[in-house]
Amino acid sequence: MTHQWQGVLREYADRLDVTDATPIVTLGEGGTPLIPAPALSRRTGAQVHIKFEGMNPTGSFKDRGMTMAISKAVEHGAKAVICASTGNTSASAAAYAAYAGIQSVVLVPEGKIAMGKLSQAIVHGARLLQVRGNFDDCLQIARELSANYPVHLVNSVNNDRIEGQKTASFEIVDVLGDAPDFHFIPVGNAGNYTAYTRGFVEDAEAGRTTRLPRMFGFQAVGAAPIVLGHPVKDPDTIATAIRIGNPASWELALAARDTTNGYFGAISDSTILEAQKILAAEVGIFVEPASAISVAGLLERAAAGVIPAGAVVTVTVTGHGLKDPQWGLRLADGSEAKPTVVAVDVAAVADAIGLKANA
Ligand code: F0G
Repeated sequence: MTHQWQGVLREYADRLDVTDATPIVTLGEGGTPLIPAPALSRRTGAQVHIKFEGMNPTGSFKDRGMTMAISKAVEHGAKAVICASTGNTSASAAAYAAYAGIQSVVLVPEGKIAMGKLSQAIVHGARLLQVRGNFDDCLQIARELSANYPVHLVNSVNNDRIEGQKTASFEIVDVLGDAPDFHFIPVGNAGNYTAYTRGFVEDAEAGRTTRLPRMFGFQAVGAAPIVLGHPVKDPDTIATAIRIGNPASWELALAARDTTNGYFGAISDSTILEAQKILAAEVGIFVEPASAISVAGLLERAAAGVIPAGAVVTVTVTGHGLKDPQWGLRLADGSEAKPTVVAVDVAAVADAIGLKANA
């Protein structure tokens, strides 16, 4: 019989705070593929592997944290959960709350979340409010609500989220047999950067690895508070998932960088979109813009001579491209792809694609 992956709480039960009293709310998240990327290895001289988190049940890495956060919320008797979100957290919270049979409430910045994510939150039954403000404003409200009303906060300021998300590092180590030399990852609120570091540190402490990877995190130029060293009041980037000006896990992320001899860099929107196309066209993986920033970061750091030849590099791509598909239709010159229309005619189709008949 085929083994079915049991979700991260069961697969890593011995490394998480789950007991027989914890109701396991799972959609089978985790167990995502670590895909060798020869095209990126050729471009960089490193051995590059992509951790494709778009393969999770709601299409992003948030599911790893949400299975833990919602399971613990239900264990503690919560009837409603709340989160602020740029889209993926709300999609995931809504889905896991639906499975658990509790209410989800989500606050998103008005007009600034991708259509696929909005659709997910609605279809899973979330009470969704669009706030006339940015993500940082939404998180402030969610924090205050959860402090004063009977709603349980499931943003990554909740440590259960970080705990669930650290399992991605365990999976990388399980596949490679050791930690990589470098790990590349997008940064918004910096919760995931913190979570991966925790996972790699725990693996090192348990003797499952011989080293810690250097953790390289990337923010968009218009939303790069950690790189700049100060909050950004009006963050702006086409990578709406990481359009964040005041990351909640800022201090934890700085500590994680220091622990791993890591790095934070900023990438322009146009470079993000180029990387998205390279990953899709040369490796066959379609990710949303926020996720492509880790690939862009790898290409930029390799060009800067920071990545030694043959280094083992893992790159997390956090969310599926189908969540925000408009960017896939955008051509390099900025215009929109307009596929040629042809008649129901073999010769016309052959002609349109430049095929000559066999002699
Ligand atoms: N990539 C994607 C696709 C995301 O949705 C997020 C965060 C990140 C990267 C950054 O992760 O915040 O842990 O540094 N999205 C949150 C949300 C903010 O509401 O969905 P982080």
